Amino acid sequence: MLSVIVAGAMPRIGTAADLSAMALPPPKTEGGKPLMEALKARHSTREFADRQLAPQMLSNLLWAAWGINRPQSGLRTAPSSQACMDIDLYLAMANGVWIYNPKTHSISQLMPDDVRGETTTGQDYVKTAPLNLIYVSDAARMKNPSGPERALTGIADSAVIGQNVYLFCASEGLGAVLRASVPGAKLAQRLNLKPTQAIYFAQSVGYPKG
Ligand SMILES: Cc1cc2nc3c(=O)[nH]c(=O)nc-3n(C[C@H](O)[C@H](O)[C@H](O)COP(=O)(O)O)c2cc1C
Repeated sequence: MLSVIVAGAMPRIGTAADLSAMALPPPKTEGGKPLMEALKARHSTREFADRQLAPQMLSNLLWAAWGINRPQSGLRTAPSSQACMDIDLYLAMANGVWIYNPKTHSISQLMPDDVRGETTTGQDYVKTAPLNLIYVSDAARMKNPSGPERALTGIADSAVIGQNVYLFCASEGLGAVLRASVPGAKLAQRLNLKPTQAIYFAQSVGYPKG
């Protein structure tokens, strides 16, 4: 089975109105490879093993990607243009589509469908990766949502998170590939996104094959 384990015995933190919110183990924010070693190891991976990510690994990955590293301000591990925080991280896994909530370091299920294969314009390896991160940019959070910087902000803010994911994966022996080959408009429709939301990138993550 290719799914990421996220359920298991982890405590549910949802209210009656939000039963699908699921706490992740607290992220381990120490250790890992020294930065220069992670940079030496960083590369794109397009062949994934049939192996799941454990909850702790998923927790650490999400924190490294887009977690809060300064709790007093709520600012994140990745920069964001004008601190608009336009990006939401959607997780496409075998057990559905989830959204990462940095404030509670939890994930909430948006739909039970496996849409991994729908996050690509035709690269077969994508559906074999246990996790496909979808970078959803919401222009409603930008200072000038209708200006030319709308796409620039969404693209740049996605890409800097993507590099965090690359470096985390290099540190942990995971494989990753950032992908612009995403059917953005079709996927946005599939995920019931608002007109202000757009998808520019996805990123496949998993253990490398072999
Ligand atoms: C903006 C951007 C878009 C990319 N889009 C794709 C993609 O759609 N599919 C893919 O397989 N790789 C994609 N890549 C990965 C590049 O092909 C890869 O980084 C390049 O071949 C260099 O290999 P390396 O990452 O191992 O250094 C993308 C990389 C970037 C930075």
